[in-house]
Amino acid sequence: GTSQLVDRFGRTIRYVRLSVTDRCDFRCVYCMAEDMEFLPKPQILSLEELARVARSFVDLGTDKIRLTGGEPLVRRDVMELVREIGGMGLRDFTMTTNGNQLPRFADELRAAGLHRVNISLDSLDPQRFSQITRTGRLERVLDGIDAAREAGFPGIKLNTVILKGRNDDEVPELIEFARKKQIDISFIEEMPLGEISEHSRAESFCSSDEVRDIIRQRHELLPAATDTGGPSRYYRMPDSPIRVGFISPHSHNFCDTCNRVRLTVEGRLLLCLGNEHSVDLREVLRNHPTDDTPVRDTIIKAMDLKPERHHFSTDGDVQILRFMNMTGG
Ligand code: GTP
Ligand code: 5AD
Ligand code: SF4
Repeated sequence: GTSQLVDRFGRTIRYVRLSVTDRCDFRCVYCMAEDMEFLPKPQILSLEELARVARSFVDLGTDKIRLTGGEPLVRRDVMELVREIGGMGLRDFTMTTNGNQLPRFADELRAAGLHRVNISLDSLDPQRFSQITRTGRLERVLDGIDAAREAGFPGIKLNTVILKGRNDDEVPELIEFARKKQIDISFIEEMPLGEISEHSRAESFCSSDEVRDIIRQRHELLPAATDTGGPSRYYRMPDSPIRVGFISPHSHNFCDTCNRVRLTVEGRLLLCLGNEHSVDLREVLRNHPTDDTPVRDTIIKAMDLKPERHHFSTDGDVQILRFMNMTGG
């Protein structure tokens, strides 16, 4: 279908990332401070409000929705939303999860109409995994990955944020793991969102080029089609069906092909991850409880606010105070 959402730079928006909760059962060092405060319930969108936003975007030509968080699976009743959106006929309907609750929910998610899951996995070493996630247990997430495979998801992708001195030496093991399980993997450059005093982003930054060089010492990497509509640049190996992606906001800016917007957990429609340009959809939803026309009109107008690009740097300075868990991963 045609999308009615085009910004000032001619980019067509068809991909919406909905943050359904700011809460999480992990506290990954690069994402959250140790003592995070979460939002009181009245400030976050209800499931009905989230479904209205999803429906409004679909009516405007959106064909891809991703549920994010925080951790989407810690929100009670999230399954109702999955079912609702699962019935909207999307080309791609997917979720980004830390995998911890997948042993419980994978089958149900698949039955509810979810197409794909992206699962975060930053280490294969139990102790390190617990250090990076602060509260996570590796074994449980590995069970979650298997549960997703057994549920028959046609698409599963692993997401790995590479941090110097923490997991940069695990790239070969992570590649072997992905090859063995036959699932795609993307390596992500850390982005400076939220002030996290215990963690130095300048020291931990590791560029995608470095990661690619490590892989190339063992495997040939050939450019592959990039068709998910996400920011990953994909490669493949001659002897494996999996794809290896790189999400490189610092070293390979992808803003010129940006096709997406995000909804924060408070109902702010955020036009770019790395800027504060936004409109308050929550107010519109609550002022018009039964009419979606103003919601659609507000979304259409918001496109004019979408900035050209982010200006992240790797010097460790915080540029965006908002944390990733508010923002939609
Ligand atoms: P696919 O649909 O499988 O391609 O997923 P995706 O990469 O679009 O989504 P995912 O939730 O797996 O995100 C992976 C990483 O990409 C996360 O760290 C996101 O924050 C980051 N990311 C997604 N969209 C953007 C974006 O527009 N700008 C920036 N800077 N990062 C993004
Ligand atoms: N920079 C890059 N990626 C991040 N994620 C969370 N915080 C950051 C950050 N500051 C990742 C998670 C997950 C994905 C949704 O975003 O690890 O894989
Ligand atoms: Fe939770 Fe994801 Fe943030 Fe880790 S990155 S603390 S799993 S929201």
